[in-house]
Amino acid sequence: MNSLFAPHTLGSLTLGNRIVMAPMTRSRRPDHIPDADTADYYRQRAGAGLIITEGVFVSPEAQGYSHVPGLWTDEQAAGWAGVTEAVHGAGGRVFAQLWHVGRVSHSSLQPGGAAPVGPSALRAQAQVWIGDAGFADADTPRPLRTDEIPRLIADFADAAARAARSGFDGVELHGAHGFLFEQFLNAHVNDRTDRYGGSVENRARFLLETLDALADRIGSHRVGVRLSPFTLANDLPVDDSTEDLYAYLAQQLTGRALAYVHLSDLHLSGGSDISEDFLKTFRHNYDGTVLLAGGLDRARAEYLLNAGLVDFAVFGRPFIANPDLVERLRDDLPLATPDPATFYGGGTEGYTDYPRR
Ligand code: FNR
Repeated sequence: MNSLFAPHTLGSLTLGNRIVMAPMTRSRRPDHIPDADTADYYRQRAGAGLIITEGVFVSPEAQGYSHVPGLWTDEQAAGWAGVTEAVHGAGGRVFAQLWHVGRVSHSSLQPGGAAPVGPSALRAQAQVWIGDAGFADADTPRPLRTDEIPRLIADFADAAARAARSGFDGVELHGAHGFLFEQFLNAHVNDRTDRYGGSVENRARFLLETLDALADRIGSHRVGVRLSPFTLANDLPVDDSTEDLYAYLAQQLTGRALAYVHLSDLHLSGGSDISEDFLKTFRHNYDGTVLLAGGLDRARAEYLLNAGLVDFAVFGRPFIANPDLVERLRDDLPLATPDPATFYGGGTEGYTDYPRR
């Protein structure tokens, strides 16, 4: 019987348990630099086998929401060094989630007030938080030129190098939730006619090239990727090629010796977006470690683990209100309920003031 609570290897690391803290944006850093509160927040949650940080923007152009930390300057990297030191000091491990929103952005968040970038000039019906002015509709993006793709890939590789220098154990590429990479993956949002559009192979190319660049820079075993098959977040249309795409991705990711593939189920369709059949097939086609997030509790996580469908169970919202979530799950203690009103923005309230049991 596999145990959620026993140590397990991930890449070249041995994690204390198989419970992972999901990446969660908390929008508390107007200057994009993690501070002592950020370090406190993650230190409190270091009982997780692995923490994946909130999405971290890799460049000014990557931004789509206000008050989100970055990894494009040395000051930001220094802020993150305080976080990794705090987590390691408490016995935890931590990956940085590297994020570019693509078309899910607004010109007021972009350098020089420019249009956001994306695969194609197709606007998302989505809203982004632009700070004091509140929420705004996403703008129509400017399609990226083919010769710009290497610059974006370099932005990710540079952010990964900064992450490694800041003491992170690895990075997770945010390839999920309708942001930049999923915009390229989706047949209806990507209408390109170059080698990054059209066939499944072409739509997957940007993601795979970026993963290779990250692996070259910091080592494949320190690179994970988050994907959200069938999760139609941020106005992604249903794509009939999803099964083919994921069969191809599983085959291509095999042999790349990544730390993990992290599948995210946002339950946007009312039920599970990711079926057990899909998990079985993906597992069959992919030779590496699989993480799953979305609506898990202890019983479901143990079931998935013992059925061999996943290697690690990822918890999001429960970690917000239960800094000692691992102990509470292990001892079958009641869980505190997080307050959605303090998920994003504000100070320490709803952030670092949830007590341990
Ligand atoms: C999220 N989620 C998320 N996902 C991601 O890949 N990057 C991010 O920055 C965020 N930000 C974020 C903020 C907040 C406040 C929430 C609640 C969620 C999604 C998250 O990682 C996870 O997939 C979902 O919360 C589902 O898992 P749970 O909460 O059902 O365990």
